[in-house]
Amino acid sequence: MTQNLLITNIENLVQVRSTGIDKLAGSQLSTLPIVKNAFLYIEDDKISSYGTMDSLNPEIYNQSDYLSEIDAQGKSVFPSFCDSHTHLVYAGSREIEYVDKIKGLSYEEIAQRGGGILNSSKLLNSVSEDELYEQSLERIHEIITQGTGAVEIKSGYGLTLEGEMKMLRVVQRLKETTPLIIKSTFLAAHALPSEYKGRQTEYVDYVVREILPAVAAEKLADFIDVFCDKGFFTLAETAKILEAGHKFGLIPKIHANELALSGGVQIATKYNALSADHLEYIEQAEIDAFLSSQTMPTVLPGAAFFLNLPFSPVRRMIDAGLPIAIASDFNPGSSPSGNMKLMMSLAMVNYRMTAQEVLNAATINSAYAMGVSDRAGSITPGKIANIFITKNIPSLEFFPYAFGSDLIETVILNGEIL
Ligand code: NIG
Ligand code: FE
Repeated sequence: MTQNLLITNIENLVQVRSTGIDKLAGSQLSTLPIVKNAFLYIEDDKISSYGTMDSLNPEIYNQSDYLSEIDAQGKSVFPSFCDSHTHLVYAGSREIEYVDKIKGLSYEEIAQRGGGILNSSKLLNSVSEDELYEQSLERIHEIITQGTGAVEIKSGYGLTLEGEMKMLRVVQRLKETTPLIIKSTFLAAHALPSEYKGRQTEYVDYVVREILPAVAAEKLADFIDVFCDKGFFTLAETAKILEAGHKFGLIPKIHANELALSGGVQIATKYNALSADHLEYIEQAEIDAFLSSQTMPTVLPGAAFFLNLPFSPVRRMIDAGLPIAIASDFNPGSSPSGNMKLMMSLAMVNYRMTAQEVLNAATINSAYAMGVSDRAGSITPGKIANIFITKNIPSLEFFPYAFGSDLIETVILNGEIL
């Protein structure tokens, strides 16, 4: 049985919302509610109540025979991060391409030489499901210590029926065996396998007619994604795949506008995608498409940094009244890190976001972008008790400012201290 947990003397209890909020847009992003000198009470696996220390009802101590207490003097408590876009189930690594990139090869050039996603596909198809699970589990443990409490994980390195099923079964196993909230996304349209070179239409047919129905039959995916961009999948192919996914109840989340003004945002919003992600290439037409939709614009600061991409015009998007979510894109090619604290620091420097904005973007808005707003993303009674306690920090801003420091002292998931 889980113990009830009382955290007292919290210097800053961050992101408190008495009722659930599904997303924050425009100027709402700059408000981050904090209770100073606070307590937080957790019953079983849920957040039960919070408030200032002088409002702490002494009866809480008598309510439970199983009460443990943490004194958080000088420390802050945050809701765990929601990382709404990752590819963390993969085999091996691709540091050689990292070196090639530094020598001057572009992401597209590396992809054309059979590197990139196809390199990961070869590695993934050469390991067993157990081996893939073990490698991925290590990454899950890493992001847990870095403060993530919910994560979305995509397929897309299998690119065959067997490979895609293997990836998604591993995600399923991670759902069952780890304390994280996990959502899975079907992304067979991530790259064209080399055996389909010159026959992209046939590959899209294979995805739609064979892989997708098999995945849906085993209920292995919550969402469907397409890498809809220059040199990858076209608008017509994306539409075809999303329509096929819709028949199985799969909501879209789209890779869009990373490499060009490809129309990805327009197709994402047209098909009511939960999110459209990357967004390096954004003009007024894309902003307008987002404004008339419920799709969460999501930026991936790790990929933009690591690939040296032009930065998304996030200030302009927020000023236009849009919400923004931040995710890590944790993957072996474009963002070999799932560290959401680092993503916040990168977003502040490169997108000129404030500490309040990045925190909202990495919790409430990214919870929305992965469909878990009812359970995660804020300190709200009734939500799952996924939180972390920092080391002693002098202010909220210090947390993203000290960008290379590990400032997380205690992680609590489902009300349990890890
Ligand atoms: O989100 N943009 C497409 N896919 C991944 C890259 C995956 C890889 O290079 O392995 C991304 O950045
Ligand atoms: Fe991605």
